[in-house]
Amino acid sequence: MTKYVINGGNPLYGEVEISGAKNAAVAIIPAALMVDGVCRIENLPEISDVKTLLGILKEMGAKIRAVDKRTVDIDCTRVGTTLATFDTMRRIRASYYLIGALLGRFGRADVAMPGGCNFGGFRPIDQHIKGFTAMGANISIKNGIVTAVTGDTLRGTTIYLDVVSVGATINLMLGAALASGRTIIENAAREPHIVDLANFLNSMGADIRGAGTNEIRVRGVKRMTGGFYSVIPDQIEAGTYMAAAAATGGRVVVKDIIPRHLESISVKLREMGVTVVELEDSIIVQRDAPLLRTHVKTMPYPGFPTDMQPQISAVLCQAEGTSTVTEGVWDNRFKYVDELSKMGATVRIHGRTAIIEGVRALSGAPIKASDLRAGAALVIAGLSAKGRTVIDGVDYIERGYEKMVSKLSLLGADIRAISDRQDFLFIRKSG
Ligand code: EPU
Repeated sequence: MTKYVINGGNPLYGEVEISGAKNAAVAIIPAALMVDGVCRIENLPEISDVKTLLGILKEMGAKIRAVDKRTVDIDCTRVGTTLATFDTMRRIRASYYLIGALLGRFGRADVAMPGGCNFGGFRPIDQHIKGFTAMGANISIKNGIVTAVTGDTLRGTTIYLDVVSVGATINLMLGAALASGRTIIENAAREPHIVDLANFLNSMGADIRGAGTNEIRVRGVKRMTGGFYSVIPDQIEAGTYMAAAAATGGRVVVKDIIPRHLESISVKLREMGVTVVELEDSIIVQRDAPLLRTHVKTMPYPGFPTDMQPQISAVLCQAEGTSTVTEGVWDNRFKYVDELSKMGATVRIHGRTAIIEGVRALSGAPIKASDLRAGAALVIAGLSAKGRTVIDGVDYIERGYEKMVSKLSLLGADIRAISDRQDFLFIRKSG
């Protein structure tokens, strides 16, 4: 197991290149299952969730060839199985996209129930099930396996989502791409990765319109064939470096991004007294004055992203006055607050709201990441704290952030990854 050791207090300066979007990549890779021929996917982030999904497709019979570190050729023409029940699937949330992909292609899917970040509370899939059932699938769940069966193919229909769900929108769009007739997904999620998946499927021959609005219309096609596609930049990775620049002070150019995707984050940082300058495909974040308090509420896109909630809270812990952060997407996503308290943060949770009394400075402490974005928030806290922070549970972080330690080091952070054994030796030496 790896830990991160951070000696905090260095303002970040320099440029950071943002990788391909995790949540787009983990939808596009399963989508390749529906394509006859070779899909070349470029700009994949080098993260463990991507490696896990490529491994799952390989186990299912796909041919996978790495062209370079960020580009793979995936050929699923020979995949004949509808069974995806590997242990690895329970580690990642996005394994549920195999339901839509397999149902679309074969009319049957036997898929292990998804795992993924557990930031508190159950993560339901009732909207996925409701949609596939409306499209003619019979669905049962037994011993942790979801089995979905249709007669021949899924049938297009109109589906209204009772909650705006990214996962259900993506899964139903996948199923609908090869269904018979027209599917309309109403109250659809609008996140950039939904548009990216629609663009991927369309470039392989699908007929999807309206992605990025709350009504997506899919005309089912008989088959999709191979092609090239490049994944969009990661909105949340970019936002995380913007937050780190704000928390530590300094000046960071966040490169290779789509500034429009970051508007809700830029607005909040400006409210906090941070200078944010949007250029064509980069953003400059600079802080020269104390951070000001603000109020944040997470919402589906284009609202402030829930996946930035822990990171912005870590920044607000050091803002003057009282800030509030309200979680509007998940029932509970504040597990990390106990860890921030160990660093001297003053945060109370009231229902779905964190009430944050800013402190002058956080202090380094041994802490533990409980999920991916919680881990990112702890890194931000550690970078801006006085003294040494040791973060356990960083496997979560490496599931979704490419080379975080080296990217931060290039910006001047004093951060390194150590193994448990090195940590043990360090404790013995200091003891
Ligand atoms: N929900 C239901 N029923 C469903 C599906 C969702 O009630 O069938 C509820 C959830 O309980 C939640 C809300 O709807 O309250 C939104 O859930 P959504 O389905 O949008 O989340 P998801 O698809 O499981 C994706 C991201 C998450 C991100 C959310 C919200 C992936 C692989 N995961 O999850 O990302 O928090 O959308 O934007 O795309 C992360 O990257 O750290 C992460 C957790």
